[in-house]
Amino acid sequence: MKVLITGGAGYIGSTVATACLEAGHEVVLLDDLSRGLRSFGEGRHLYVGDIADGDLVDSLLADHPDIDAVVHCAARIVVPESVADPLGYYDTNVGKTILLLQRLRDAGIARIVFSSSASVYAGETGEGVDESGRLAPASPYAATKAMIEQILHDASHAGDFRAIALRYFNPIGADPQLRTGLQNPTPSHALGKIMQARAAGEPFTITGTDWPTRDGSGLRDYIHVWDLALAHVAAVERFDDIATAAEPYEVINLGTGDGVTVRELVAAFERVTGEALAVTETERRPGDQAGAFAIVDRAAEVLDWRAQRSVDDGVRDAIAWAEKFRSQI
Ligand SMILES: NC(=O)c1ccc[n+]([C@@H]2O[C@H](COP(=O)([O-])OP(=O)(O)OC[C@H]3O[C@@H](n4cnc5c(N)ncnc54)[C@H](O)[C@@H]3O)[C@@H](O)[C@H]2O)c1
Repeated sequence: MKVLITGGAGYIGSTVATACLEAGHEVVLLDDLSRGLRSFGEGRHLYVGDIADGDLVDSLLADHPDIDAVVHCAARIVVPESVADPLGYYDTNVGKTILLLQRLRDAGIARIVFSSSASVYAGETGEGVDESGRLAPASPYAATKAMIEQILHDASHAGDFRAIALRYFNPIGADPQLRTGLQNPTPSHALGKIMQARAAGEPFTITGTDWPTRDGSGLRDYIHVWDLALAHVAAVERFDDIATAAEPYEVINLGTGDGVTVRELVAAFERVTGEALAVTETERRPGDQAGAFAIVDRAAEVLDWRAQRSVDDGVRDAIAWAEKFRSQI
């Protein structure tokens, strides 16, 4: 199959592209390089530009009239930035996606796979959530994901195309062969903060130790980015069995099915590095939640996919990638 990946020079899109290539598919990338890296598109058909640039999208589709499916990863993704600039986020993530989808529909593209997020779910209580969980996005970023899901649902039912929304939980790690990884190797999630603390020789702070979880610290479902990428390959390959003429829209959680608490993440980090990590504890931060993990039965059923890699694998690859990335800049 030939797969167009928007945001294909970014963290997840580039990893999806590699997994598609390894599975024998062809890829075409569209990325404006606002966050993506040109090097992630090297040796691949990379079109540099905006998803809302209709002329560019049309010429890409004219060059590749045989595109079978689109994986739509391009987006702005920083939650606090979305709170400071909601109009910018709604414009890029929602407005530009509509322009892109119109072009894709007009070109007869039938299969859309969308990068959605577990952040669309309501109140995270430390428990598992399945695809029927109540939606209540808590930030403009998360709201853009829920809005695009709604748009894809409605457009699919109107016959514009068929679509699968993949709700990612908490991606970590890098391509295990370290071809790609995070452009910012120490992100703001707990693992990034642990890595920063270790690099600075400072203690890592656990914020909140009275959550309703097994050890009181917050809980996430850390999914290795390579497992995530393999789920996209399955979604593309099995698309026609999943999103059908009768049921043209499907939502699928992508997580491990197992939550990892912050204390457990610290323990994983210590196992991987072989060093003790200094830790301090403080109160909850405003806006924090206990967290959630994915119920992944649907992914197992319709994608025949399950995450294979452990949190230790994710920590190991994240550290290895950060070291490689820093040595290159
Ligand atoms: N990383 C996560 O924790 C996470 C979790 C859930 C969902 N997601 C979703 O996965 C997708 C990919 O995220 P990522 O972590 O790889 O982020 P990323 O920033 O690495 O990738 C996004 C890519 O999109 C490109 N882009 C942004 N706006 C564009 C535009 N208007 N036109 C063309 N290209 C544009 C950027 O240059 C970047 O390469 C996003 O849709 C994000 O919402 C990510």
